[in-house]
Amino acid sequence: MRIWAVANQKGGVGKTTSVVTLAGLLADQGFDVLVLDLDPHGSLTSYFRYDPDSLQHSAYDLFQNDGKVDAELPGQLLLSTSHDRISLIPASTAMATLERKSVGSDGMGLVIARSLACLWDQFDYVIIDSPPVLGVLMVNALAACERLLVPVQTEFLAIKGLERMVRTLTMINRARKNKLEYYILPTFFDRRTQASVQSLRVIRQTYPEQVAQAVIPVDTKFRNASTQGIVPTALDPSTHGVRGYNMLMRWLMEKEKQPAADTAQRL
Ligand SMILES: Nc1ncnc2c1ncn2[C@@H]1O[C@H](COP(=O)(O)OP(=O)(O)O)[C@@H](O)[C@H]1O
Ligand SMILES: [Mg+2]
Repeated sequence: MRIWAVANQKGGVGKTTSVVTLAGLLADQGFDVLVLDLDPHGSLTSYFRYDPDSLQHSAYDLFQNDGKVDAELPGQLLLSTSHDRISLIPASTAMATLERKSVGSDGMGLVIARSLACLWDQFDYVIIDSPPVLGVLMVNALAACERLLVPVQTEFLAIKGLERMVRTLTMINRARKNKLEYYILPTFFDRRTQASVQSLRVIRQTYPEQVAQAVIPVDTKFRNASTQGIVPTALDPSTHGVRGYNMLMRWLMEKEKQPAADTAQRL
């Protein structure tokens, strides 16, 4: 099982869209994929037509035992989606209250890593969606994943947010035994606008090692797919946006051939 996460302390940058589209691409290749919603807003959960306001069970349940995880529980939280190779562990709005808990105590930061270990032989890939807040939930996502994707809009204000996220990751990497590999993904690219073109140049110059080769263009089909609750690849695999994610996927698969942080070692 490979675990990826998508995070940025800024909202509206394409995190949930990246999770859903990458999941679709992996599932279409025949992999069994789990998408895990750790954002209390529950956009990923809503995407697949579940209501984060009224769900009885969600990722929230995993945090209810002081950091200890019942081995049966993660499997009981799995929901089906519009794609038969994609399962979902949903978020519920109650998860917002978790952000008040302290990460430092009782292994609260490793709840998700431990929960996913219980599903080790059920999925080929897990992709975690995370909230735009550096709290217990994002810390859990970062601790559980082997690779992290940081989508960033190609606009100047977003670059400020990226600086903050990179500082956070540098801090987290100081505390980790093995370094978390992260990749910056430029999103909402519009080559007709100067702001977009210049921002992309700045991102590439500032983070040459970290930035993904692929760029995700602005594509209204993402919104169409989300209103229908189907993954973008199922709506139209040839659209510009999906082609951008396809390039990203090929680039990530090359990276997969290199050793990544070993999560199992830390449990
Ligand atoms: N490349 C894109 N082009 C156009 N619209 C997009 C693109 N990526 C995401 N969107 C739309 O922008 C909105 C925010 O994206 P989302 O993935 O939910 O961001 P986040 O999870 O970071 O808050 C959604 O309505 C989504 O459909
Ligand atoms: Mg989101």
